[in-house]
Amino acid sequence: MLTIAVSKGRIFEEALPLLASAGIIPIDDPKKCRKLILDTNQEDVKLVIIRATDVPTFVEYGAADLGIAGKDVLIEHGSENLYEPLDLKISTCRLMTAAHVDAPPIGKRIRVATKYVKTAQHYFAAQGIQAEIIKLYGSMELAPLVGLADCIVDLVDTGNTLKANNLEPRDFIMSISSRLIVNKASMKKKHQVIQRLINQMAEAVARQN
Ligand code: ATP
Ligand code: PRP
Repeated sequence: MLTIAVSKGRIFEEALPLLASAGIIPIDDPKKCRKLILDTNQEDVKLVIIRATDVPTFVEYGAADLGIAGKDVLIEHGSENLYEPLDLKISTCRLMTAAHVDAPPIGKRIRVATKYVKTAQHYFAAQGIQAEIIKLYGSMELAPLVGLADCIVDLVDTGNTLKANNLEPRDFIMSISSRLIVNKASMKKKHQVIQRLINQMAEAVARQN
């Protein structure tokens, strides 16, 4: 049995062709059914549908052999107990600071709202900026608009979400894409089947780029 943890939505949609190239086609559509464990065309391969931020946890503990997760989530989680053999080059975006269009440049003592607490702490410390980090779970864009924070650390793709809320990107922190991750024990125990899957997906990534 091989289990692959993946979040529904953007990553699931973009991962489908890559999984298909490794011969894995889910039978159910997570948008239409409430099942959390999806059967695939291969009897011994299942997809576990979970929140994006939970994917590294499931894989680290071996509840899933493999997973697909954004680099943002992996860095925030800390991925030293996982293998990360492949950049899938899907769900690409940038992690950035952002502030109100009329706000002054980011100063040396600031309040920052984000769901990426550890990543933000590390980034501002490296910049010599004293940052008080406020952890949020939902729309960070709201924080500077209501005086909760001077700036946010969030993902930016088109920039439309920032623009719609009178915010603008300020400093680039890192490029983000989704990665294939593997449980360390699974990699040993199921080496042949996992390595084949990695190779097939790597070929598909190369073809797509
Ligand atoms: P959670 O359900 O845990 O709150 P989420 O709602 O952020 O997570 P998604 O929006 O599906 O989940 O994002 C999953 C991943 O997709 C992110 O971790 C990131 O790597 C990537 N991502 C998020 N937003 C964008 C975007 N606008 N463009 C491209 N990739 C993105
Ligand atoms: C993500 C991210 C930003 C937005 C950036 O949100 O948290 O809000 O995308 O994309 P843009 O620069 O193209 O506007 P998402 O669409 O995933 O919504 P959610 O986090 O509320 O699920």
